[in-house]
Amino acid sequence: MSIALDLLVFATGFGHVLLAPYSKVEESFNLHATHDVLMYGVTPSSLHLYDHFVFPGAVPRTFLGSILLAWATSPVLHIASLIGKTLSKADIQTIARLVLCSMNAAGLCLLRRAVSRRFGRPTGFLYTLLTISQFHVPFWMGRTLPNMFALLPVNLASYLLVNRAPNAPKPSPTQFRTAIMLLVFTAVVFRAEVALLLGPIALLALIQGSTSFLALIKAGLVSGILSLALTVSVDSYFWDRAFLWPEFNGIYFNVFEGKSSEWGTSPPLTYVTAFLPKLTLGALPLSILGAIIDSRVRQIMLPCLAFVGLISCLGHKEWRFIVYIVPLINIGAARGARWMTSRKKGTIFGRLMFLATMAILAGNALVTTLLAKSSMGNYPGGAAMALFNAKYADHDHVHVHLSNLAAQSGASLFLQVHSPPYTTWLNSSIPSSSHWIYNKTESLGPAELTAPHHFTHLISESETDVRALTASGEWRSVDAVDAFNGWTMGPAIRTQLDKLRGRGKAGEGPVDIWDVLPRMRRENQLWVLERT
Ligand SMILES: *[C@@H]1O[C@H](CO)[C@@H](O)[C@H](O)[C@H]1NC(C)=O
Ligand SMILES: *[C@@H]1O[C@H](CO)[C@@H](O)[C@H](O)[C@H]1NC(C)=O
Repeated sequence: MSIALDLLVFATGFGHVLLAPYSKVEESFNLHATHDVLMYGVTPSSLHLYDHFVFPGAVPRTFLGSILLAWATSPVLHIASLIGKTLSKADIQTIARLVLCSMNAAGLCLLRRAVSRRFGRPTGFLYTLLTISQFHVPFWMGRTLPNMFALLPVNLASYLLVNRAPNAPKPSPTQFRTAIMLLVFTAVVFRAEVALLLGPIALLALIQGSTSFLALIKAGLVSGILSLALTVSVDSYFWDRAFLWPEFNGIYFNVFEGKSSEWGTSPPLTYVTAFLPKLTLGALPLSILGAIIDSRVRQIMLPCLAFVGLISCLGHKEWRFIVYIVPLINIGAARGARWMTSRKKGTIFGRLMFLATMAILAGNALVTTLLAKSSMGNYPGGAAMALFNAKYADHDHVHVHLSNLAAQSGASLFLQVHSPPYTTWLNSSIPSSSHWIYNKTESLGPAELTAPHHFTHLISESETDVRALTASGEWRSVDAVDAFNGWTMGPAIRTQLDKLRGRGKAGEGPVDIWDVLPRMRRENQLWVLERT
């Protein structure tokens, strides 16, 4: 039973990785860092080949997550090459993402064990169903976002804080200290906003007497100093700067210099009114019920509430800043769902409560299906690269320019399959044409793009450019890649609406159920051009 639930979490994450294998710009720093560590190794002589030096200008981020991911991925690649599996570079991207996904899935499975122990097996079961029926955590846990590297240690800390006998009032001192050390490590190395969760957790523990002030400070200092030494030594090396602490750099830049508001500010209640409902779907009302009926849930949710309050004070808001509390909210939701499904059997109230729980899970699954379907169509750059690589696989001389949109929506370094670097894992599968040039220099003008004897192909995002170039006769448009562009209502609904407005035709046959469902709108976004 327990293993089956674990498999369900892994399978959901893997499904999302395989259905949407490409990446977006916010994942690209860590994805390319993973690529570079795998392909070039970490010796000083290879550092100048790294993407952040070839295309400088990025805000420094830590390399630690990517190094660990690359090192965890390489045994899998070794095994694949031992059993004679041929892998392309694009496969390596998928494998690395599956490895990250597995780590985060393992964190969630561990947390589920704590829930089963503290609240009973049925609650653990409902916890799993709620988790996999949501969209954001399962979809993103295999994506190389800094927050997804931070999610694992936060989940481990959550596990330590929750895992104990049903009526034990507080975690053991060792468990509590380890949890604090993990949260400090995460805040120092990966994501500083985790400090806003750490604060309330520590304060609540002090008030409840789970720890002494001295023990708390000691754990915080030890972990803080070790984590700082780790990130500064590793990142100073990789960025070739003295005493670089990337997360502090980020805070300084975004909070003190107020740069983050340049990314846009949102109203104070955005987390409560928009992001939390989006992240948790039907689990949010269930967690409120859980908090009402069980004081243990209140103890878990109180720091989450304080965290949301604190982080709401920052002008720039994004869903991923609060993703760490979703597994904790799901604990409260599972408790609420357990209460609803365990009302007296056979009574009308009992049946209604059971049905309502099923309806919430089904609603989650429906929303997740729609979101997953639209997200799958959101990576035109990746789709264009796959199409391009396959179409010209037997061409030797290809020099292609990738537009900005292509580079930002999936054309990662891993997808440059016909161009070096190749490592030993790829020995058996270096494609026959392996010396293409992929050029992703931004904002080149038409003159540079069409200069004679230069680019042989373009992946363009501008329909006007495409028209002008093909009209000149020197270029030919060979393919177009479309992408998701919103939903429209199902044709049956539209007909009904038109009828209501008195514009439709009366007297139609039975309505096909599929015609009620919303339709996806897709639109061409990238074009592949070839010199004639
Ligand atoms: C990879 O291929 C090259 C050339 O074919 C060969 O010299 C080298 O030993 C191979 N490396 C591995 C690890 O198989
Ligand atoms: C890409 O092409 C542009 C325009 O010809 C050139 O200036 C740039 O150096 C090229 N970049 C790379 C990495 O080859």
